[in-house]
Order: sequence, then C-alpha cells, then structure tokens
Amino acid sequence: MRGKFFYFLFFFCNIPIHLAVVNPPYGQLQVQGTYLTNSSGIPIQLQGISLYFSMWQPQYYNQNVLVSLKNQWNSNVVRAAMGLTNGGYVDNPEYNYGLVKAVIEGAINLGMYVIVDWHITYNVSYTPQAITFFSNISKTYGSYPHIIYEIWNEPTVTWDVIVNYANQVIPVIRANDPNNIIVVGTADGSGGPWFPPSQKLNYNNIMYTLHIYPDVFGGGSQEQVRTKATTAMSNGIPIFVTEYGTGSVWPNETLEVDEMAP
Ligand SMILES: *[C@@H]1O[C@H](CO)[C@@H](O)[C@H](O)[C@H]1NC(C)=O
Ligand SMILES: *[C@@H]1O[C@H](CO)[C@@H](O)[C@H](O)[C@H]1NC(C)=O
Ligand SMILES: *[C@@H]1O[C@H](CO)[C@@H](O)[C@H](O)[C@H]1NC(C)=O
Ligand SMILES: *[C@@H]1O[C@H](CO)[C@@H](O)[C@H](O)[C@H]1NC(C)=O
Repeated sequence: MRGKFFYFLFFFCNIPIHLAVVNPPYGQLQVQGTYLTNSSGIPIQLQGISLYFSMWQPQYYNQNVLVSLKNQWNSNVVRAAMGLTNGGYVDNPEYNYGLVKAVIEGAINLGMYVIVDWHITYNVSYTPQAITFFSNISKTYGSYPHIIYEIWNEPTVTWDVIVNYANQVIPVIRANDPNNIIVVGTADGSGGPWFPPSQKLNYNNIMYTLHIYPDVFGGGSQEQVRTKATTAMSNGIPIFVTEYGTGSVWPNETLEVDEMAP
C-alpha cells in the first residue's frame, strides 16, 4: 500500500493538479497522409474561433468565454494567440503567459482542443523566446491530447528561413511531447505551403498553415486559393487552416458567406 501511495503522489506531482480533465472529442489527433484524423485514423474537422492578440484583447482569455464557444457556438477548438511585441510575451512574459495559460487550462477542463499560437506576422520569429516558451508549454501540458502547437503565425520570410526556425523549435517540443500536432506557418504570411514536397519537414504529425482572407489587400480569389490548396494536398502536404475570414478586413466590402459554408 505504502509503495502505491508514493507512486500516485509522484505521478500527480507532474501535472497541474487543479485541472479537471475532460477528454477532447476525437482523442489523440494524428496526421495520416494529408488528413487530420481522430485517434483511430478517421479524418475529422475541427471548428472554432481564434482569439485576437493576447495583449490587445485579454478580456477573452478565460474559461467563461470557452464555455460559450463550446456550448453556444459548437466549437471544438480555440486558438490562443500569444502576441509577442507591443506589450506581448517578448515585452511582458509573465502577464501574457498567464492569459494563454487560462485558455489552455480552460480547454483541458472543458474537453476542447487548443491551438497554442506564436502570433506574429513578421520577418522575425523571436527564436530564443519561442524555444523557452514552447519548451515550457510542452513540458507543462504536452501530455494532454488537447494541445496543438502553432510555431509561427504568419512568417513574411522565405520557406528556407522558416525551415531553419522550425528545426530549432520542433525538436524542443518533440523532446517533451512526441505526438501532438505541430502546425508550421508558411511564406507570404501563411499564404500556403507552396514549396516542393521534397522540402517538407522531417517530423511526425506536422501540418502547414493556410490563411484564407479573400479579397484582402488584393489577395488571391477563392478560386486561386482552392487551386493552390488542392495542388499542395495532391503533393502530399497536409494543410491546416488556422485562420479564415468571410471577406475583407474592411467593413465596406462584401462578405462571402456562401464560400465559407461547410
Ligand atoms: C473515429 O471516427 C470514427 C468515425 O466517426 C468513429 O467510428 C471512431 O469511434 C472514432 N474514434 C475515436 C477514438 O473517437
Ligand atoms: C525585417 O523587415 C524590416 C522592415 O519592416 C527590415 O528593416 C529588416 O531588415 C527585416 N529583417 C530581416 C531579418 O529580414
Ligand atoms: C512556465 O512559465 C511560467 C510563467 O513564466 C512559470 O510560472 C512556470 O514555472 C514555467 N514552467 C516551466 C516548466 O518552465
Ligand atoms: C474599402 O475601404 C478600403 C480602405 O479605406 C479601400 O482601400 C477599399 O478600396 C474600399 N473598398 C471598396 C469596395 O470601396
């Protein structure tokens, strides 16, 4: 009995003890071919909301918001967008870590997936901070199947620069978390994975970001985006759309709601 008692004490000390864990709906996610699948390898779709930059809309970084997203919006995933500069994690790590932590733990408590997103649109990745952050997150939460890592929201650099970054950050995550999905941003602000298949990253359970905002800043039409996505998938490159909009960022332009219907 005594031996067992110490065993359990040791086990529980390794996980945040205040979490009331509810399993996420599809169990341990995997990538099979170009598909995101449930734990038995059947393709699934996640649907949910991306929060805005942590430091700019902190009022949404709490479990009450996730309760609404799950119960009233039928979401099974939420994206915690860790802002970096302008008062974000690079400037104010403890504050922003606390915000993202509230969303991660809320998702674990409620049985939702959570995308932990290094949310910067830029040519600089803040690699040393990313390594510290993702090492911490994967150590603390990597044993939960709820976690999805997104290591660079919208890189504005070429694919070889992204690969160099990914090869520094992904091994740090994989050292603590061998399985959860890692989503890697793509060139042109996650304009899509348009690199040749030979330049895929050599790790398991990796997907590549495509962000879809039709008509924004002279961006591609829906048809162009669809063609690019289909081409990437036929090249064996798995895509994860971690953001989409129903139209422009400007309120004066038409919403393309029909295009977004499932
Ligand atoms: C995966 O999806 C299939 C099809 O919906 C379902 O039959 C199976 O139970 C699912 N597996 C898990 C572990 O959820
Ligand atoms: C990033 O872009 C800025 C302009 O916004 C430029 O001054 C800087 O040299 C670029 N840095 C890198 C690493 O490309
Ligand atoms: C992760 O970072 C938070 C906030 O800085 C800190 O409280 C916690 O101890 C860190 N955990 C690990 C495993 O480094
Ligand atoms: C909407 O507003 C933006 C910003 O002012 C402008 O660039 C764009 O041309 C406008 N679009 C239409 C359809 O008027």
